[in-house]
Amino acid sequence: MLTFVWAEDENGVIGKNGSLPWNLPNDMKFFKEITMTGNVLMGRKTFESIPNPPLKNRKNVVLTRNKDLVIDNVLVLHSKEEVLEYIAETDKPIHIIGGADIFELFKSEVDMLYKTLIHDKFDGDTMMAEINYDDFEIIEKRMGIVDEHNIHAHTFLIYKRK
Ligand SMILES: NC(=O)c1ccc[n+]([C@@H]2O[C@H](COP(=O)([O-])OP(=O)(O)OC[C@H]3O[C@@H](n4cnc5c(N)ncnc54)[C@H](OP(=O)(O)O)[C@@H]3O)[C@@H](O)[C@H]2O)c1
Repeated sequence: MLTFVWAEDENGVIGKNGSLPWNLPNDMKFFKEITMTGNVLMGRKTFESIPNPPLKNRKNVVLTRNKDLVIDNVLVLHSKEEVLEYIAETDKPIHIIGGADIFELFKSEVDMLYKTLIHDKFDGDTMMAEINYDDFEIIEKRMGIVDEHNIHAHTFLIYKRK
């Protein structure tokens, strides 16, 4: 099974200067809960945005066109075809965690969407790929809790392909 796990603002912004435009620990917690159930696949730039990579206790898979790139304890793949082969031979869910390039590349294949919608607007340089939500149904919707550490209102949405 292939999933997308991401957070976006009201305008679809997901990134700024190689990192996240917001600080939302509740979303980090949600991200961890979901991604711990399988393996994580990401673009090379998203991998480089992780403070202490790789993400712990999950198989990390990185997509790059650079055939010379070798990263300790990380599976490096070089094309969509290689990723599809990897998905076909893997029992665990594969969670795609960004960035925009990788979401765009797999938006026709993805089975489930784990989206955190942040009810705010941020400056950014990276936008979420356009998803055709007509192809999906919402199976869960939950408001996040706003407190002194999580100042942005947010909603956790889970979609399944129809
Ligand atoms: N809000 C969120 O949930 C979220 C999630 C993830 C990321 N982000 C943010 O998004 C930004 C990074 O995303 P991004 O879209 O700029 O980059 P990205 O998708 O993480 O990585 C892009 C890189 O992936 C590789 N790649 C792309 N298509 C490929 C293909 N068809 N075959 C092989 N390799 C391919 C290339 O690596 P090479 O250049 O090495 O060839 C490319 O430069 C950061 O700001 C990050 O914080 C936000």
